[in-house]
Amino acid sequence: MNPETDPSAPVLALSDLVVEYATRHGRLRSLDEATLSVAPGQIVALVGESGSGKSTLGMAAGRLLASNALHVGGRLSLAGRPVYGSGAVDGEPLRALRRDVLGFVFQNPVTALDPTMRIRRQMELACRGRREDRHERPVAELLQEIGLSDVSRVLRSYPHELSGGMAQRVGIAMALRRRPRLLIADEPTAAVDATLREQILRLLVSRCREVGCALLLLTHDLHAVAQHTEQIAVMYGGRVIEHGPTAEVLDHPSHPYTRALVAALPGAEKPGQRLEAIRGIPPVLHTACPGCAFAPRCPDALPECRSTRPVYAAVGGRKLTCHLHTGGTASRSAASARNGADRDPADDADRDHHGQGRRTAT
Ligand SMILES: Nc1ncnc2c1ncn2[C@@H]1O[C@H](COP(=O)(O)OP(=O)(O)OP(=O)(O)O)[C@@H](O)[C@H]1O
Ligand code: SF4
Ligand SMILES: [Mg+2]
Repeated sequence: MNPETDPSAPVLALSDLVVEYATRHGRLRSLDEATLSVAPGQIVALVGESGSGKSTLGMAAGRLLASNALHVGGRLSLAGRPVYGSGAVDGEPLRALRRDVLGFVFQNPVTALDPTMRIRRQMELACRGRREDRHERPVAELLQEIGLSDVSRVLRSYPHELSGGMAQRVGIAMALRRRPRLLIADEPTAAVDATLREQILRLLVSRCREVGCALLLLTHDLHAVAQHTEQIAVMYGGRVIEHGPTAEVLDHPSHPYTRALVAALPGAEKPGQRLEAIRGIPPVLHTACPGCAFAPRCPDALPECRSTRPVYAAVGGRKLTCHLHTGGTASRSAASARNGADRDPADDADRDHHGQGRRTAT
């Protein structure tokens, strides 16, 4: 079926996407053959250390990267329409695609709003040019739904008159008012008070579910991921290195980097067990990495890891980029030995771990 008309086709699909930034020190490779797929209505977390490429991936979805960004290779499509790669849309069709399919919620809600305009006007303008204007609901109703009580005051306010939590709720309402098919939320709770984080995330996820919008949540917060998302994609060095159902991946991480991330989680330690930090520093890539970017930090590295790039491949119900899991029988047995004598990580995803021992936020 044509991906543009097939309702089950991915709303976002990246295949081996490579993006570099031109800098004074030469090219910096920010996405290094990143592959990811988000199905309609799916709630997906994109996690990884600072600099791993999360925001670059999020902005690439709308071809909204900084002017020094260069598309070096690979493809990206939005609701079946090519945004990077052969036949990519441009000009007005690209703008229409962004308007119809994409919404964004950013880290700092106040700076994301226009400081010179009252909230009511901004919310009205948020839908300008959308094809289904006649279906739009009154802005006051939308603000009530997102839990704001003094709606008329909020509508009369300028952004600087709102608290961070209020401004983020307004940002969410504005982004979803267009009824996008995919909302990209880049660290949406990083600037709000810790006590409001949970409320804002719950609101974001529940509103996305109500309007049938997929959510790509870019975050460092694994506890929030465990609580609110269905799928987790882990990035390292500009690649997605593990992607699968959140509960399964957090309970039984397969990739050595995901294992280290989970082990470093506050609350993951057992009584008397020391909290592990991830040794080494994240990579800054100036060229394509010849092998696995995690090799210098990986406790399980195999001889081929520094010279041969692991491919992104399906292993059971997950996608993995690691020789331990996607290599030959020898590598798979090494993985089995490291994960327990009787357990091959390739089988993890085949087991039904749903709800069993799922990690919870503290
Ligand atoms: N406009 C730019 N020019 C040069 N380098 C950039 C630019 N934007 C991002 N980078 C670099 O690209 C890499 C990936 O950055 P990106 O912002 O996508 O990472 P991130 O995972 O979102 O990090 P964080 O968690 O800190 O937000 C980093 O090394 C970053 O410094
Ligand atoms: S490919 Fe090799 S170095 Fe990279 S994570 Fe897997 S085992 Fe470690
Ligand atoms: Mg970022």
